[in-house]
Amino acid sequence: MCGIVGVIGNESAAPLLVDGLRRLEYRGYDSAGIATSLNGKIHRVRAEGKLANLEKALLTNPIEGTVGIGHTRWATHGAPNETNAHPHATDKVAVVHNGIIENFQTLRQELNSLGYSFHTQTDTEVVPILITHFLKLGKKPEEAVAQTLKKLEGAFALAIVFSDHPDILFAARRGSPLAIGYGNGAMYIGSDAIALAPFTQRVAYLEDGDYALLTREGVTIHDTTGAVAERVIRLTNLTGATVGKGDYRHYMQKEIHEQPSVIGQTLRVFYQSGTGEIHLPDLPFDLKAIPRISIVACGTSYYAGLVAKYWIEKYAKVPVEIDIASEFRYREPILDKGGLSLFISQSGETADTMAALRMCKQLGQHTLSIVNVPSSSMAIESDAALFTYAGPEIGVASTKAFTTQLTTLACFVLALAQARGALPKEEVARLSHALAEVPAVVMEILQNEERFAALAHGLQHASDVLYLGRGTSFAIAMEGALKLKEISYIHAEGYAAGELKHGPIALIDESVPVVVLAPHDHWFDKTISNVQEVVARGGKVILFTDKSGKAHIGDLNAEVVVLPEINTLVTPLLYAIPIQLLAYHVAILKGTDVDQPRNLAKSVTVE
Ligand code: G6P
Repeated sequence: MCGIVGVIGNESAAPLLVDGLRRLEYRGYDSAGIATSLNGKIHRVRAEGKLANLEKALLTNPIEGTVGIGHTRWATHGAPNETNAHPHATDKVAVVHNGIIENFQTLRQELNSLGYSFHTQTDTEVVPILITHFLKLGKKPEEAVAQTLKKLEGAFALAIVFSDHPDILFAARRGSPLAIGYGNGAMYIGSDAIALAPFTQRVAYLEDGDYALLTREGVTIHDTTGAVAERVIRLTNLTGATVGKGDYRHYMQKEIHEQPSVIGQTLRVFYQSGTGEIHLPDLPFDLKAIPRISIVACGTSYYAGLVAKYWIEKYAKVPVEIDIASEFRYREPILDKGGLSLFISQSGETADTMAALRMCKQLGQHTLSIVNVPSSSMAIESDAALFTYAGPEIGVASTKAFTTQLTTLACFVLALAQARGALPKEEVARLSHALAEVPAVVMEILQNEERFAALAHGLQHASDVLYLGRGTSFAIAMEGALKLKEISYIHAEGYAAGELKHGPIALIDESVPVVVLAPHDHWFDKTISNVQEVVARGGKVILFTDKSGKAHIGDLNAEVVVLPEINTLVTPLLYAIPIQLLAYHVAILKGTDVDQPRNLAKSVTVE
């Protein structure tokens, strides 16, 4: 999952490519590079590490040319160094690639036996060499690209420039997303519309199997069969301005503080404030008739799904199973006829979730996606999509995307419960009014950020931290552990509090802090018994609860943080905030790169 851009126009390409890459850095930041075609040569500059390093390299080694391609990398094959940085090139052609060429070993061997040698450890390098091979056989660029594409297996998005043909630029898509931007006398390629925002708002998305030939005047798109294809040009509402950090130190902190507003925005789409009714857009399946729901997602989105499982079974009385996408797609699941498969994803592009969606469609399931990016592949390919209105999330550790996912999911659950008669209208209204209180209550917690910053000192030197909870708080415990790992690099585990005694309790001593999420719900007493087990073994506990919870803990040796009291339905939305703040402030104390933690990327478009 790398970011790719391409431009063919009349201005110098290099600054445009860097501008596009800046918006794609969320897809990976192991290395960056650009290449242009000018005077019969490929000109290329690459740098290990973040885009800023490429910018520095371009200052000492500027490159000219009005046609070019650029790349920001999240390493899959080959170490994240300059040699393995894209673009990969021969003297004839340069290529940037997002995805994985699965048969690259076979292709390498074939090309080796034809006398070609390789200089990198990447899967990508076979592409420029194959194209060069076909050019040497006398093929024209378009034929050389078409022949090469036929030989590639796997998922990819490619952009290609030729040294001898500075008037053309190629794009190809199989599996990985790719957008074409229409300018005036210039055309663009980008992994997403955000990359193209500084140049144009007129964007067409390539479909799977498409390849495209761009000139300064326009584009010719071919489908998998080679036939010329038309793809709808859409107007995006994205602007060229990059999303700023405002007065915040990091995007993550800004995004944490945006939650009252984006949760409110998301809620307003579904919730009628007067009546408390929840309205979903028309869905192409009957909510009353669904026998079972399978939820599939990755990472933080998976934990939103886990909360939804508890909610759906409790409030709508529909059986739910939930899977991590990379497991689901290979475990040969048995799905009920007429079942609903629900996919949750911030980006709408995560490769495993996308593959699971396609599999469920093939198996005849109804498909519904909950995504933050309306133009994403999941939104387009599923039978229906419900959106979250988080706006662009730049910090790699997901925060506002998670709580808006929970908001949309809560609305879905209430609509489902009402459609099936599992809850009376009055109860739906009571619960939806509780949901409407969330923005104000989240704001209240955020106003006490200092408290969480102070608590972070207790975790800063730990090498392991346990997060415990039961019910929906179990899901938040896992999300809390993930947040801490991602940005502070402290090992953390989220555990079902009741499962503690089956193993993790062996880890407890005074050096392992235990963060407990325990709103005063029907699991509370059980959770507190587990906390007692931890305290009895010398464990240091930070307990998040509410006023009633505090009144019921008795004599417990723990650091107790009292959060506002709210209906059980919405506690996951609330308890998500302290665990985000805690992780954020531990990372600050540790001095890590909060917005771009090592080895991670925001959108994972490889398996
Ligand atoms: C990556 C991100 C996570 C995200 C996960 C799923 O691992 O770093 O923050 O939760 O992908 O992404 P999705 O876009 O499908 O929600």
